[in-house]
Amino acid sequence: MIDKQLHIPLYYQLAQSIQKQIDSGDLKPGESLPTEREYSEKLNISRMTVRQALNQLVNNGYLYRVQGKGTFVAECKIEKPLTGITSFTEDMMARGLEPSSKLLHFELIPATQHIANHLQIKENSPVYEVKRIRLADDVPMAIEINYISANLVKGLTEKIVNQSIYAYMEDQLNLRIEQATQTIESSLAEPNEAQLLQISDGAPVMRIQRTAFLHDGTPAEYVLSAYRADRYKFTVHIHRK
Ligand code: GLP
Repeated sequence: MIDKQLHIPLYYQLAQSIQKQIDSGDLKPGESLPTEREYSEKLNISRMTVRQALNQLVNNGYLYRVQGKGTFVAECKIEKPLTGITSFTEDMMARGLEPSSKLLHFELIPATQHIANHLQIKENSPVYEVKRIRLADDVPMAIEINYISANLVKGLTEKIVNQSIYAYMEDQLNLRIEQATQTIESSLAEPNEAQLLQISDGAPVMRIQRTAFLHDGTPAEYVLSAYRADRYKFTVHIHRK
């Protein structure tokens, strides 16, 4: 596990070695790890070194701590490419997970100036406001609030938004989303969000704001969402100019 002859910090070697055990499946999600004292005695290194290694893995989302109980292996993160536009339903199905939604709010409202600007419609035009918890295998992953122009996406119902909005738009209305502008910001869960996402107050979330457009540039949706930072990571392949 650790080679003291190497010029590599001991905490780093230990963290790497535990990470490998997680990646290979030797340590499984939910499994508890040996205590700091056990690691320190077994490997003959200081408890500080062990703590530093475990802290790094907790910070990177590989492990989590439960007060008074110990340190456990976290669930694997969902790796989401930043290129390409996919719906939540497609994302989960592609990973063999069962997508579902808990509908918190569904209402036809007059667009505020802010929403109207994003959807490029007149203020007070009818807009569907849809707030959903998105779940994978019954585990809450994200909270999404969609604003959708009712004059564009006609006939949206609670039943439809309990399934896939994108599938309805594409299959029933022939409205294909072609592009989107998206921002991602790190943030902390508000108490009500934490409760809905089943995470602790102030746990990290990623706030994603998306405006998606049809092929002719018409905005089709304006979405504000909070994704669990302990369950998601985003990847992108980049080129040097
Ligand atoms: C993703 C996107 C949202 C989009 C949603 C549609 O979560 N970030 O902008 O509204 O997918 O998902 P579905 O078609 O499953 O309703």
